[in-house]
Amino acid sequence: MAEILGLGCSHAPMILNPAEQWPEIRRRIYGGVPNYQAPVKMVEELGDDNGLSHDRVNQQKIVDAFAVLKEKLHAWNPDLVIVVGDDQAENFKRDNLPTFCLYTGDEVDGYPFHRPGGKINIWDQPQDKKYTFKTPGTFATDMVNFLILEGFDMSSATELKGWDWGLPHAHINPLMFLNQECQLPVLPLFVNCYGEEAGPGYPPRPTANRCYELGQAIRKFLDGRAERVAIVASSSWSHSFLTHRYNCSEFDEEFDRRTLGWLKEGKGSNVAQFTPEEIRLSGDHEFLNWIITLGVVGDKPAEIVETLDEQSQVSFKVFAIWE
Ligand SMILES: [Fe+2]
Repeated sequence: MAEILGLGCSHAPMILNPAEQWPEIRRRIYGGVPNYQAPVKMVEELGDDNGLSHDRVNQQKIVDAFAVLKEKLHAWNPDLVIVVGDDQAENFKRDNLPTFCLYTGDEVDGYPFHRPGGKINIWDQPQDKKYTFKTPGTFATDMVNFLILEGFDMSSATELKGWDWGLPHAHINPLMFLNQECQLPVLPLFVNCYGEEAGPGYPPRPTANRCYELGQAIRKFLDGRAERVAIVASSSWSHSFLTHRYNCSEFDEEFDRRTLGWLKEGKGSNVAQFTPEEIRLSGDHEFLNWIITLGVVGDKPAEIVETLDEQSQVSFKVFAIWE
């Protein structure tokens, strides 16, 4: 049996920014939602300082939660870290969009602060700062070969060519909190979570059940290996601007609270039953990254490090550990 450490976290761009920038991020996001109506809960949170006092508390909660995850990760000292995230039309666009793709290159770069709004970041790093991560060598190609023979039509990529920034934000953002010193080798897994939300003509996202099965197949591969592997589920859960049940104005706290209960009780496999329509209505598109991870860790109760449920956070955020 493999030795596996599971971690779950957010990759929201705003987590790299100081709280003072969050109102502008909200303005940009909701400015793009037709007929946007702020939920009552959010209006209360914004209060008379445009949310700054809440934002400061929540930003600190995120930093503190990542510190717990980082300490666990480095104390556990894995041979490699699989990061399960979604490329959001960054490297993979309509011209070439795999459903699942594993990175098999020799090393991988990321420019976390290169995006608009990255200039002012909580580490005061220059906007063009590059981070280069080692990758786990033949482990990645062995994993692709295994998964294909298990019946998964996995894609693989030795380079990221779609844009000039290397790793998409789903992968590089958590790595800034967990592995900014680039000590641990990283294995990125890309999942097409956005599906049609990325734009006209984009193919649909994979089903929850298929993602869970992929996680189980990855687990089978890991069980035959000697490496100690950490796996990171990278995404917030329901995103307000994707929640079609509430006109893309409010995240679906009720849906996510039910899922959170399952994770605490060690009933994570229930998420494999989500239908495509449930995911679309609840704005939980990117939760597919967690579903794959749940397939790997199995029905083991999660330790919930932090939950952020304020609507002013734009998305429902959970920080979790499976050990
Ligand atoms: Fe995302």
